[in-house]
Amino acid sequence: MRFQQGENQSLLQSALAQSIRLPHSCCNGTCRTCMCKLDAGAIAYQIEWPGLTREEKEEGWILPCVAQAESDLVIDVPDAIDLKK
Ligand code: FES
Repeated sequence: MRFQQGENQSLLQSALAQSIRLPHSCCNGTCRTCMCKLDAGAIAYQIEWPGLTREEKEEGWILPCVAQAESDLVIDVPDAIDLKK
């Protein structure tokens, strides 16, 4: 599944806008429902304190509901659903 980062959108918002459903709930970086692994690329957060520990960040976990791509990314979201199919 592929999607484009939308301007001024989070990764989650971008995916949903392109009919790719990623797990989510709060959409503000606290509940961790959207937490997934970043396998490649770089992100920046839209908020100062996303709900991840330093260790989780070092292990590659991200919160796509409050993250934006800074490069092409590969994220691992086993529960993603392509609603176009
Ligand atoms: S949806 Fe709650 S932290 Fe991302």
